[in-house]
Amino acid sequence: MQDPKIQLNIGLFGFGVVGEGLYKVLAHTPGLNAQIKKVCIKHPEKERNAPAQLFTTDAALLLDDAEINVIVELIDDADAAHAIVTTALSRGKAVVSANKKMIAEHIRELIALQQEHDVPFLYEAACCASIPVIRNLEEYYDNDLLQGISGIVNGSTNYILTKIFEENIGFEQALVQAQQAGFAESNPALDIEGIDAVNKLSILLTHGYGIITPPLAVVHAGINTLHKADAVFAKEKGYEIKLVAQARKLSNGKIAAFVAPQFVRASNQLSNVRNEYNGVVIESGLADKQFFYGKGAGGFPTASAVLSDLSALRYNYRYEYKKLNFGTPSELTDDFYLKVCLGFKNLTQLPQERFQQITEWTSNGVRCHVTGIIHFSEFVNGNWWKQPGMSVIIYPDGILEQPELADAEDPLVLSGHLELV
Ligand code: HSE
Repeated sequence: MQDPKIQLNIGLFGFGVVGEGLYKVLAHTPGLNAQIKKVCIKHPEKERNAPAQLFTTDAALLLDDAEINVIVELIDDADAAHAIVTTALSRGKAVVSANKKMIAEHIRELIALQQEHDVPFLYEAACCASIPVIRNLEEYYDNDLLQGISGIVNGSTNYILTKIFEENIGFEQALVQAQQAGFAESNPALDIEGIDAVNKLSILLTHGYGIITPPLAVVHAGINTLHKADAVFAKEKGYEIKLVAQARKLSNGKIAAFVAPQFVRASNQLSNVRNEYNGVVIESGLADKQFFYGKGAGGFPTASAVLSDLSALRYNYRYEYKKLNFGTPSELTDDFYLKVCLGFKNLTQLPQERFQQITEWTSNGVRCHVTGIIHFSEFVNGNWWKQPGMSVIIYPDGILEQPELADAEDPLVLSGHLELV
């Protein structure tokens, strides 16, 4: 991969929405000097919009072919993707992948393989599809200056929230639409439970802060617990609800990180991110806020990031994992507080003992909403907040280093039980 004029002979795994998108895009990008030599698929019986001789079900035909110098992995199955990518890297082939789950779960091993075999492994498409956020975090922002990342990183859930809250379409119908459009994972629980978002957040943490963490060890919630009444409550307060992945540097240099539904003000750039679009607000010490916006799911937007990685291979670009390898990587911390709104059916469900402070509570007979401050460790230890019927929504600027709200004029510190009035 040293010669910028090198011909990229691609072995492609997967010919779904993204794989086919890449095939079409490459046909119109002759300047890239790249051609797909073989495509490995799982279901040969499916009709494909490409010549039949391109396809095989035999992975070895790609992995054993010395002429194939790049493997592009665009399959859905994370375990199979792991086997393909590790074999390809071990054989000295460059690899481009979009498999966020596989990358997030195996990042330490994948970094070691790149170093051991001196080969590039690029995956810009794995986070926010068309938005070049990984390369920006890797190259542009110094760990010391990166104050925070907060983003809508899952297109399907954002699509569903937009359809429910702005177009009054039901959850199930909105999910089916997201699936039909090719945005959702084949197991859509990964989208709606916040797992896809936390996989992406963990990749962003590696490139932004040099943190390597098992993705599921990062606190995450999805949109499946949200209730219509939560949206009404949000609207009354002038907010929208978005599923946000966050990382914020605290004053001790450690990083607070999680994925959860969040109230978003109209003045926040994220409130303008609709449907399958993604948006990432990056806060840096000197530049204040910068906003990245683009399509976060779908065949062509994802293929555009894969294409950009292929182009980068031609000048031998590779991630250096700068925050890990140079300077001091940051650490995650559980020692901070969140300003949250808990929604639940009746006040007997109120986990009063979890709160440091309660500042507001309301009940309309359908749903109760209690606002207050909870130490983050309460969310790390235990699943009390994931019980059926309970929703947790984070307030804007809801990450606090102290357990008091500066603006709470008359905080309601509870003793005993609240009664419904
Ligand atoms: N299911 C993912 C999403 C696809 O909706 O964002 C793109 O990673």
